[in-house]
Amino acid sequence: MSSVDLSVSIGSLKLKNPVLLASGTVGYGNEISEFLDLNKIGGIVTKSISLKPRKGNPPQRIVETASGMLNAIGLANVGVDEFLNTKIPFLKNYDTNLICNIAASSVEEYVECTRILTSEDAIDAFEINVSCPNVKDGGLEFGNNINTVGKITSAVKGVTQKPIIIKLSPNVSRISDFAKIVKQEGGDAVSAINTLVGTAFNIRTRKPKIFNVTGGLSGPAIKPVALAKVLEIKRNCDIPIIGIGGIMNWEDAAEFMIAGAAAFQLGTVNFIQPNAAELIINGLSEYCNEMNINKISELTGSFII
Ligand SMILES: Cc1cc2nc3c(=O)[nH]c(=O)nc-3n(C[C@H](O)[C@H](O)[C@H](O)COP(=O)(O)O)c2cc1C
Repeated sequence: MSSVDLSVSIGSLKLKNPVLLASGTVGYGNEISEFLDLNKIGGIVTKSISLKPRKGNPPQRIVETASGMLNAIGLANVGVDEFLNTKIPFLKNYDTNLICNIAASSVEEYVECTRILTSEDAIDAFEINVSCPNVKDGGLEFGNNINTVGKITSAVKGVTQKPIIIKLSPNVSRISDFAKIVKQEGGDAVSAINTLVGTAFNIRTRKPKIFNVTGGLSGPAIKPVALAKVLEIKRNCDIPIIGIGGIMNWEDAAEFMIAGAAAFQLGTVNFIQPNAAELIINGLSEYCNEMNINKISELTGSFII
């Protein structure tokens, strides 16, 4: 039996362990609950929610690539009202933290979504998606603009007492500058990274393999990039970091924590091994025992360079 303290803090948000499920890869938790005991994980990040329902992009929306996948879902979601009426009741059955991810096409829409959702007790924190590469309105238009990221951070902070996590784009030259503005404007944490812009062609038809032409690359292919972004933020800005990008097993997760992540999210792996979260919790616990680490939070930023 493990004696390791697996709990971690992201600002004022306390998690029983650092394992979170990444936005867009487990819907609203219901599909994965057949394979994974959601009570055991640190938390779930919901699919991005927008004020009104969105259909997303036409198919083809997903394509496999070497060590990863490209997706251009385009933020298909049920919208705030249906989320509150039909998804929250299911999520309330579980003893885990709920982080609600919000996407929007304007600063006002981010604020309105946050304002409506903040009164729902089941929601513990918000992750603000300013970095979706697959939509024309919003998405990278925001995530690439440091002033807009600052504006969104302070605007949503103005309507909620709950922790605000800004999900950063890797498609920028200095991600740590974005983390700095988030901190300056009162944001509680950053998550890094969202997907990298990529594309793929069918060489017979010469057409893009995805309808949207470009998509977001995720999976093991992006892990070294994501790790470098986490490290860059850790070295330049004192803000809690949630690491994301290509984590497939507990060894990958440990690497993210060593590079600076206080917690981490699992994305693409959920499609391949839906119980990965449980295996990762067990693996990290054994690793800490073996390394004489009493509190897993000691791992965060423990790199020796
Ligand atoms: C099919 C799919 C849908 C996604 N949808 C969202 C989304 O709605 N909102 C968001 O912030 N990130 C979304 N993401 C990005 C993931 O949350 C995560 O940042 C990214 O996949 C990198 O992690 P991974 O390599 O572990 O998958 C999506 C990723 C995938 C693969």
